[in-house]
Amino acid sequence: MNLKNLRKDPKSLFYLFLEAYSVRFKPKKVPMLPTILQIEPTINCNLRCKMCDQPIWNRKARDMEFENFKKILDQFPNARKLNLQGMGEPLLNKDIFKMIRYSRSKKIFTWIITNGMLLNENNIENLLNSKPNQIFISLDAADKKVYESIRTGSSYEKVIENIKNLAERAEHTQIIINSTLTTDNFNQIPKLLELLQTLNIKKINIQGIHTWGKKQWDYMKEKTLKSKYSEIKKELEDYKQKAKSLNIDLSYSMIEPTKNNCNWLWNSCYITVDGFITPCCIHGSDPRKFSFGNLLKTNIKKIWNNKAYQSLRTHLKSENPPAFCIGCPELKNSC
Ligand SMILES: C[S@@+](CC[C@H](N)C(=O)[O-])C[C@H]1O[C@@H](n2cnc3c(N)ncnc32)[C@H](O)[C@@H]1O
Ligand code: SF4
Ligand code: SF4
Repeated sequence: MNLKNLRKDPKSLFYLFLEAYSVRFKPKKVPMLPTILQIEPTINCNLRCKMCDQPIWNRKARDMEFENFKKILDQFPNARKLNLQGMGEPLLNKDIFKMIRYSRSKKIFTWIITNGMLLNENNIENLLNSKPNQIFISLDAADKKVYESIRTGSSYEKVIENIKNLAERAEHTQIIINSTLTTDNFNQIPKLLELLQTLNIKKINIQGIHTWGKKQWDYMKEKTLKSKYSEIKKELEDYKQKAKSLNIDLSYSMIEPTKNNCNWLWNSCYITVDGFITPCCIHGSDPRKFSFGNLLKTNIKKIWNNKAYQSLRTHLKSENPPAFCIGCPELKNSC
């Protein structure tokens, strides 16, 4: 629902006010249902990227059924944004286009993030016809060798060709590149910008890495997040200027730890492929670690302010945040 529509609808305007109140004051009981959703269409993947948790999970690969997706989305009458992506490749779910169309029919701003490998002619057509507001494609490097060494199982040529075809045909959908920054690809940014110019892509987001608390990614985090983020930030600002000169909008996120900026528990939620509602898409996305309940069994109205939610909200605001939040870039002094 865009802002124009919200202004016309007093109930929605009221919700916007409640949302602003909730993220500002972070009460234990939140007086409105979540407005920003992330729903995981699949936990199946066709790649095994070096920095990602998905390839080392031992959760059984599965897709969300369309009927379950509907059952879940229908519980959120005031949802205004939906990210249809989780720990897996969304284009592997054959119902992904139906899901996007259903979400858009409710006037929800909808996007997916894909690794781009499956963007063949057919999928491009189906995807664009389902009318998502944005399509993010993950591209972490401009050099074939670097790209393929990060994205195990990928083909650089195929992904570049697919991005080119998509960009040529996308008239009403914004195409954005998402690059996850590690020590392996930091020096790739200038080349990436030049590549994007040839592909006619106008926007790139550079995203800091998170480690899900795992030791094996600490080395990648070292340069990009840990000790040197003010230097990194300065370099990124320079790249921003270079991007501007090429008519590309460069933004970056999760580069430096913010000041207890986590709003997830107050206006957003992550919903797993099997219907569990978990704290967020970062460290809290694995239902085996923690979940507030299951939306296929219990309505969100009964879950959103349950004891577990109230307790985690209090915990997150305290000096002693939950263990799974440690190391999260949304948390003050955690990196
Ligand atoms: C988990 S993937 C799922 C979507 C799709 N499979 C893809 O790769 O685009 C979503 C985004 O998270 C990024 N990502 C993977 N591992 C990450 C990490 N450790 N820290 C931050 N972002 C990460 C990916 O590069 C991708 O842009
Ligand atoms: S393609 Fe996406 S979900 Fe799959 S391993 Fe890579 S980053 Fe993770
Ligand atoms: S602070 Fe905790 S709940 Fe918030 S995004 Fe980070 S891991 Fe998730």
